[in-house]
Amino acid sequence: MFALRRLSTVALSGARCKHSLPDLPYAYEALEPIISRDIMTLHHQKHHATYVNNLNATEEKLSQAISKCDVSTAISLEPALRFNGGGHLNHTIFWETLSPKCTEASKDLMVAITESFGSFDAMKELLSAAAVGVQGSGWAWLGYDPKIKRLRIAQCANQDPLEATTGLKPLFGIDVWEHAYYLQYKNVRADYVKAIFEVTNWEAVSKRYSKAAC
Ligand SMILES: [Fe+2]
Repeated sequence: MFALRRLSTVALSGARCKHSLPDLPYAYEALEPIISRDIMTLHHQKHHATYVNNLNATEEKLSQAISKCDVSTAISLEPALRFNGGGHLNHTIFWETLSPKCTEASKDLMVAITESFGSFDAMKELLSAAAVGVQGSGWAWLGYDPKIKRLRIAQCANQDPLEATTGLKPLFGIDVWEHAYYLQYKNVRADYVKAIFEVTNWEAVSKRYSKAAC
């Protein structure tokens, strides 16, 4: 029995992947003057890194709980898994969809945007309003709804991950936690949201769209 339990623990921990902080695809100062080096450094090295570390710690506890058939402990870990797992997923997409130079959306994405919102500007307006309107900390997203095969705008509280909580596939998210803008934009979230479109990597968003919609 002991040997079996030990084997099960080893198998579970062996199968568990360990998450790591992804490198930024550009230098910390590359998004200046839109997003300062200080914000990018803190945001990546402190905030995102903490989500990754806490996610790994939570998954380790979950793995141990599962190996002991301890359902109660496993369930109690759900908030930490959602928060830190969401934080890791959200920020990984965020870095990927920013760029020192605003790139252009693909023809396919532009067609989808026009069909879903009427125009690119209308989509930007809706996404901006959603971002500015998030109460407290959270994210605004442009996502793809596979059920109706259209794009949609959504808000997520805290670090709730878009797909796991709404079913939408995340294409582009705007982080409106104060840690994303306060050092530079103070309390004027609307200015930060307006500026983020100057460093949006629509090429990367387009790739996410073609993957989501296929
Ligand atoms: Fe963030």
